[in-house]
Amino acid sequence: MDHTNVVLHRDFQIATVNPRVFGGFLEHIGRAVYEGVYDPQSKQADEQGFRKDVLSSLKNLEFTAMRYPGGNFASGYHWMDGVGPRSTRPVLQELASLSIEPNQFGTDEFIQLVRKMNWTPMITVNLGTGTPEEARNWVEYCNRPVGTKYSNLRAGNGSVEPYDVKLWGLGNEMDGPWQQGHVPADQYAIRAQQAAKLMKDTDPSIELIVCGSAETGLPTYMEWDRTVLEHVGNYADYVSLHRYVGNLTGDTAEYLAVTNSIDQQIEVADAVCRYAQARTRIKKRYYLAFDEWNVWYRTQNAESVNGHGKFAQHLVEEEYNLEDALVVAGFLNSFIRHADVVKIANLAQIVNVIAPILTRGDQILLQSIYYPLVLYAQRREGVALQTVVRGPGYESKNYGFVHTIDASTILGKGVLHTFLINRSISEPATIEIAPAGIRLKSIQSAELVTGPSAAACNTFDQPDTIHTQKLGNIKLTDQTATIQLPPLSVAAISFVIDDKA
Ligand code: AHR
Repeated sequence: MDHTNVVLHRDFQIATVNPRVFGGFLEHIGRAVYEGVYDPQSKQADEQGFRKDVLSSLKNLEFTAMRYPGGNFASGYHWMDGVGPRSTRPVLQELASLSIEPNQFGTDEFIQLVRKMNWTPMITVNLGTGTPEEARNWVEYCNRPVGTKYSNLRAGNGSVEPYDVKLWGLGNEMDGPWQQGHVPADQYAIRAQQAAKLMKDTDPSIELIVCGSAETGLPTYMEWDRTVLEHVGNYADYVSLHRYVGNLTGDTAEYLAVTNSIDQQIEVADAVCRYAQARTRIKKRYYLAFDEWNVWYRTQNAESVNGHGKFAQHLVEEEYNLEDALVVAGFLNSFIRHADVVKIANLAQIVNVIAPILTRGDQILLQSIYYPLVLYAQRREGVALQTVVRGPGYESKNYGFVHTIDASTILGKGVLHTFLINRSISEPATIEIAPAGIRLKSIQSAELVTGPSAAACNTFDQPDTIHTQKLGNIKLTDQTATIQLPPLSVAAISFVIDDKA
């Protein structure tokens, strides 16, 4: 195969990569909370009931913003049910996943967890069946110093210190007919504006995410976003977008080209933000919160989200393979390439439910998608550089032309991080990087995730089929790095650079 050139220039900078782009999502669904992060009955539980093995594996992913409690769950959730003495919390019929919710894990447990994990809490309020007032009460509970009704309630529940939750979502996927309390855009916009005012009056330092389009296929796609932004105006800081993808046709090359449409989805959402700003003559810039993203298709059907009235069922436990790991890396490349507009992103989700980690009894499994996430987590500080790929590629059926190599780059202090995906199913690739204005001194680290086939995956019986390996075979001569990648692989290479070059 012809070789690929990755063209970079020190001065062609996009924006600082916001660490919040490496966020996660923990929802009350299936075994994500119970039997996932929280399982007091497990041999693996710590003194607070959190699973030590799960938390230690999650630590390596270094998530930043952690979205909670949903998802669809949020639209039927009344936060007061999840605080106070555990013995008095109600056991409820849960309608988003037709399950039983015992409320043994709520706001206080979530905050204990985010503190343990050094995550940034991001709470989605209920604008489906809840009221704007209930939403602002939650802000008071979390953020006000003691001395008022809900801040005193928090103190009574064990924390005099406020929780200082800065990121709040104004509902979840309210454009989706599946959502509890779904309404047309103009009605959601009124609810969101009312809640936003009360919430920001309660704590002006918070940042608010309005619900944007949940799916690109919905008839209200983008028209919804425009209506909502034009109405909510200055109260909105971010608009959300969601995306789940999958290999629906069994065609790996086609599936790996999906990243084109992720780039496009971001660019279209940003265009609508700018349009709404211009129309309303608002000075502030709306940014994007890509607050649900992942591969999800094998278990995306009604039965897979039906808990049949039971507690902690095995819902949407997607099993990931190598091609999924490449697509997950493709999402992250796209976020880095759009660092100027994507300021928050949350992998959906973190354990058991469409997740990099699965538990089975007291055992744990790291799925294929876990490994690229670690590669990026270790190399995310700096400024995204415009990354031009010149080289071979192919025409996909649905997404247009893609290069065989997908790439993104981050320029840090004394270091250049490059992320490369080889989409070829059968061919190794040779990639040359000769960045202008950057002197490559040496290789700090170079790692690779690959496996025997696109369908290869880790299982409880064979847990190590996909894992991270050292990447050798890099030549550094005359300012040029030459890299050899095997087919179907993701590589992350950090170069030590001369900051003065
Ligand atoms: O992440 C699973 C579900 O997908 C979430 O509850 C919902 O917001 C989305 O449709």
